Amino acid sequence: MAAKPTKKSAKKKAKAKNTKVKKAAAADPVIYKGLAGVTVDTTEVSKVMPETNSLTYRGYAVQDLAANCRFEEVAYLMWHGELPTRAQLRKFEKDERSRRNISRPHVEVIRQYPKRAHPMDTLRTSVSYLGTTETAWGGEPAEKDLDRAMDMLAKIPTMIATDYRFRKGLPRKTPRKDLTMSENFFHMCFGEVPPKEVIRAFDISLILYAEHSFNASTFTARVITSSRSDIYSAVTGGIGSLKGPLHGGANEAVMHNLKEIRTPARAEKWLRDKQAAGELVMGFGHRVYKQGDSRVPTMRAALEDLAKWKGDTKWLEISDILQNIMVSEKNIHPNLDFPAGPAYYLMGFEIDMYTPIFVMSRITGWAAHIIEQNASNSLIRPLSAYSGKKQRKVKAISKR
Ligand code: COA
Repeated sequence: MAAKPTKKSAKKKAKAKNTKVKKAAAADPVIYKGLAGVTVDTTEVSKVMPETNSLTYRGYAVQDLAANCRFEEVAYLMWHGELPTRAQLRKFEKDERSRRNISRPHVEVIRQYPKRAHPMDTLRTSVSYLGTTETAWGGEPAEKDLDRAMDMLAKIPTMIATDYRFRKGLPRKTPRKDLTMSENFFHMCFGEVPPKEVIRAFDISLILYAEHSFNASTFTARVITSSRSDIYSAVTGGIGSLKGPLHGGANEAVMHNLKEIRTPARAEKWLRDKQAAGELVMGFGHRVYKQGDSRVPTMRAALEDLAKWKGDTKWLEISDILQNIMVSEKNIHPNLDFPAGPAYYLMGFEIDMYTPIFVMSRITGWAAHIIEQNASNSLIRPLSAYSGKKQRKVKAISKR
């Protein structure tokens, strides 16, 4: 019978095990390409449950939030951990509405952006510009981050809409305090507020896009925060990551594809050609969900409502053909970007506005994670396995 382990022997054993792990790590480390399947930290912000295709923000199912809340309530939830009371929401909205204006110099910076620049690039620059207007670096403590986050939540829609109007050669529309965030965004872009069907679908999209645990852009923001950098740098980095077509940029790619397909009759051939060329079909697949994205049914319903309201079901019909083949033959399911792309199209937005709209929403999740990372920080610094040239001697330039 083995001797009962004492505290001392257990310590010795653990030390030996540790040394073994380190040796193994040095000699032949396991590589987790893309960090797939690796859990790097805990979070209280949201929970993705691929086994049940579900997602909760602070314990509330996204479908439940989308059915019963406005986006502002979800933003409050993200930052305060609880849904607001009426009085709390009133105060939150009053604060948000009072911060929507951007400074005159900022308007002039936006006016200078090249007219052909992608709106994600101009938005990334605008958020970075906002960071230059306060001396956050090295000085201001992170406790002010909630205040800075509120400023970004309020100003990002204004930055996007102002840039949009200037690109079109139109005068800017200043924000209105009597409108919700969604209504005001339409007003600032188009000079009018659309019917409630459109506002509701837009609001639902913002709720669904708000947060999704350690996705690429949120992780980027957490990595930047982990070096004790500032929130503007973290959000700027998040925008850079979100822009990629494998992440947020997919909502734009989806609509480009649907427009390229043009008619339902052309959909199957288009897809077969893509598959034959070994190309990705944008709006399908997910790193975590392998049996369907929890957010899709809610966004799909909003898209159906919009299509009916607009009397334009063509994009839905094309989408269905693609989806049926991808699911039945490849078991690859659509992600949120798949219904969101055509929904934004039916709302009247130009395609390059879709990912900036995603930012309007995801700023809530990013900020919650930045605050969480700061509160319990450990520098994020993984290891790498060197696969380059063996160490060698430098030859003086005269001998090379
Ligand atoms: N179109 C065609 N095939 C796809 C696909 C897609 N959109 N997504 C995944 N696949 C295939 C892969 O080619 C791979 O096939 P293989 O095993 O024969 O090589 C298999 O499905 C597994 O995919 P994998 O690349 O391992 O998944 P991942 O977790 O690394 O990638 C995404 C996840 C999101 C990056 C990937 O699905 C993708 O690029 N999708 C398109 C972009 C998109 O919609 N992004 C938004 C995400 S919310």
